[in-house]
Amino acid sequence: VCEANEHVRTLEQLVHEADQALYRAKHGGRNRVVRAGGGEARQSGPAGLVVVGSGIDFGRHASERCLSEIREAEVVLCLVNPMALAMICSLRPDAINLGLHYAPGKDRRETYREIDERIMTEVRAGKRVCAVFYGHPGVFADVPHVVVRKARAEGIPARMEPGISAEACLYADLGLDPGRRGVQSMEATQFMVYDRQLDSASLVLLWQVALAGDLSCTRLHAERDGLTALVDKLLRWYAPEHEVILYEAAWLPIEKPRIERLALRDLPEAKYAEYTTLVIPPRGELRWDSTIAAPQARATQVSPAATH
Ligand SMILES: C[S@@+](CC[C@H](N)C(=O)[O-])C[C@H]1O[C@@H](n2cnc3c(N)ncnc32)[C@H](O)[C@@H]1O
Repeated sequence: VCEANEHVRTLEQLVHEADQALYRAKHGGRNRVVRAGGGEARQSGPAGLVVVGSGIDFGRHASERCLSEIREAEVVLCLVNPMALAMICSLRPDAINLGLHYAPGKDRRETYREIDERIMTEVRAGKRVCAVFYGHPGVFADVPHVVVRKARAEGIPARMEPGISAEACLYADLGLDPGRRGVQSMEATQFMVYDRQLDSASLVLLWQVALAGDLSCTRLHAERDGLTALVDKLLRWYAPEHEVILYEAAWLPIEKPRIERLALRDLPEAKYAEYTTLVIPPRGELRWDSTIAAPQARATQVSPAATH
């Protein structure tokens, strides 16, 4: 049984509350009525740090483990999308929003230092701390790794629980299997400014493409110049008409992912969210390595990369 009230204001919160109550009914042995919002009393567990992933769509992706860590912690700090934040706050109205450390024009490295310090202050105070990060906490995210390392170095127990990353959603939504051609996954600006090579026979994923070319670490929106420079570099490996995909995994079950297919040359004119990922499908067929003896005629029927 779930009701909308001053703590449960949106449809998403209401559905999430009902879902949680269902889990409690299941755990309690089924065949019972459970009132949403009446979570069990917090148990006092050992002090230390656990870093958990919210998944991309919290309602669908947050594991029972993640939910129980959020319920049981003394202090919950979150760096997640606004939908996940609303749902976490319905479980824990005292959750701290680390997103408030971001500001337009502020150097992101400064933001990361502040978030790191905010988490470590609670951990050093001997609290049982749960830090919730968007997606998988250890994928394309420095701070979660840094705080786990720091806590351990200070003799404080710390661990990371995985979550569902944008990359995991991408394979499901686009029907791509990284096992077929391999995958090369890189941050877009790193690919642009360093001497990196691409294997165009594999799937290529470029992260933070909207921020391509931003060396100041202050920009949160796409800029045409950066995207043009990115396309120029990609033209070393691909034709201008090579089809690429702009991908955005959905944050809510009622949304669809964005899967926009366009020619490589058209990337500078496209629209970007801060969290758009660029997907570059493989180019051409695999070529046999001439230093490897050619297989027998029958064996060529079988792909050496066949998986289950
Ligand atoms: C700082 S990383 C965080 C990744 C996150 N920890 C994860 O597990 O996916 C942010 C980048 O991840 C990718 N990303 C995050 N959310 C996404 C989404 N909803 N759809 C597609 N890509 C996303 C984008 O490339 C974005 O710039």
